[in-house]
Amino acid sequence: MTAADFDELRIHAVRLSDASLSRLVEDDPARASDFALRVGPLYASFARQRYDRQALEALFALADNADLAGAMRRLADGAVVNPTEGRAALHTALRSDLSAAPGAKASSALAREARGAMATLIDTLAASDVTDIVSVGIGGSDLGPRLVVDALSPVAGGRFRVHFLSNVDGSAAQRVLAGLDPSRTAAILISKTFGTQETLLNGGIVRDWLGGGERIYAVSANIERAEAFGVARERILPMWDWVGGRYSLWSAVGYPIALAIGMAGFEALLAGAADMDAHALSAVPKHNLAVWHALTAVWNRNALGAATQAVLPYDERLKLLPNYLQQLVMESLGKSVRLDGAELRVQTVPVWWGGAGTDTQHSFFQALHQGTQVVPADFIGVVRNDHPHVQNHRALLANLLAQTEALANGQANDDPHRAYAGNRPSTLLLLDALTPQSLGMLIALYEHSVYLQSVLWGINAFDQFGVELGKQVASRLLPALHGEAEADDPVTQALLAEIRQRA
Ligand code: F6P
Repeated sequence: MTAADFDELRIHAVRLSDASLSRLVEDDPARASDFALRVGPLYASFARQRYDRQALEALFALADNADLAGAMRRLADGAVVNPTEGRAALHTALRSDLSAAPGAKASSALAREARGAMATLIDTLAASDVTDIVSVGIGGSDLGPRLVVDALSPVAGGRFRVHFLSNVDGSAAQRVLAGLDPSRTAAILISKTFGTQETLLNGGIVRDWLGGGERIYAVSANIERAEAFGVARERILPMWDWVGGRYSLWSAVGYPIALAIGMAGFEALLAGAADMDAHALSAVPKHNLAVWHALTAVWNRNALGAATQAVLPYDERLKLLPNYLQQLVMESLGKSVRLDGAELRVQTVPVWWGGAGTDTQHSFFQALHQGTQVVPADFIGVVRNDHPHVQNHRALLANLLAQTEALANGQANDDPHRAYAGNRPSTLLLLDALTPQSLGMLIALYEHSVYLQSVLWGINAFDQFGVELGKQVASRLLPALHGEAEADDPVTQALLAEIRQRA
């Protein structure tokens, strides 16, 4: 997209600046159905976004100009979509076989083989007296499995209880291990590089606590390092450089998921994602949910200037979705140079944040309704409940519908303190039920939307050099903490002196 394309979006935003959302709906009642799409168990309504049909035309013209359809095909075919690291991003090959490209076919075959190995390891564990699993990893090696396990674990009666350990803070290890019995616990160390400080330190704590490496499994693209850590070769599952960490839960990184919900559940999760892949690859832009979602994100950011984006799952089981999406979206799109290194002249990713259910209404919704910043939101609801508390579920859904309506329509009042301006945009994503399949589909939707946003902005969604500097400085400062070196920076020097004195 060129600067002129973004200017055109802004012209539409100016044209619509006096049009309230309630007026847009009143003037065009068909938008409730025309601005909605269904893909299998997932229904999405964009009717409460602050665009009209004319602005949407401009957005879809951008989708065509940017060749979003071609970009999706290149992704699935294993083109080098991550040129700064010279890599493909073949997460689609982990769950679907929708490409005739030999590289993508070979990747799908490797992924199937790894799932076979995973199933065998699960059978071995199931035949042992292990009841609890500690999954050690961070970022993409933690957030995806953590989200899915939390969302889909049976309320009672799962074969294994899975616990997650990520933060380098020793209190995290202390808390996770307290209450577990080392003789009935196994651990999985998940790290693509097997060089991540947090995972190696926490892995060391768990190995000591278990009394050795016998019940330690690993998932890594660096088999040698995993072996050097003390994990036996037959207990190491592979990962590959053609899968980005934050796109990897569909690979053996999802081993904790398969342990928590069973291999069949894991396959169903993959099948749901594969359905979304097929949709994103084949539906024309105007009927393509991933394209709608991506264009809406660009509209809110670049035409309306929204600096943040909320994600509000109205389902307790999806409470980790905001954390997961923070990495997926912000690590992918938090860039300020184009693919060719040229400086961007438009804003990229807003800050993503959020929380679950009606709890959030009693904390930050005041600002969403009456604050000076307009915060676009993705609301996520689940139609059918899996618990017996019907009244609660109705109340939950009533609150979900009420909030999207109140944010959009507002309410006039002579007293300015009691007036609601409304006009606050949201998308509503409704799952028929929360199942492995529908969750797989929802996550894959976000993955594709993120990629398509990166194409529209002309940035690389698959590198993350921004996280490296802090890691380098931390490793330089480590010896300084126990007095074996000095910091160069005067402020850090003063802070170190303070810490040493108080330690
Ligand atoms: O936070 C930076 C990062 O490189 C993420 O992209 C990645 O998911 C995480 O660290 C963990 O990396 P690894 O799987 O190599 O331990």
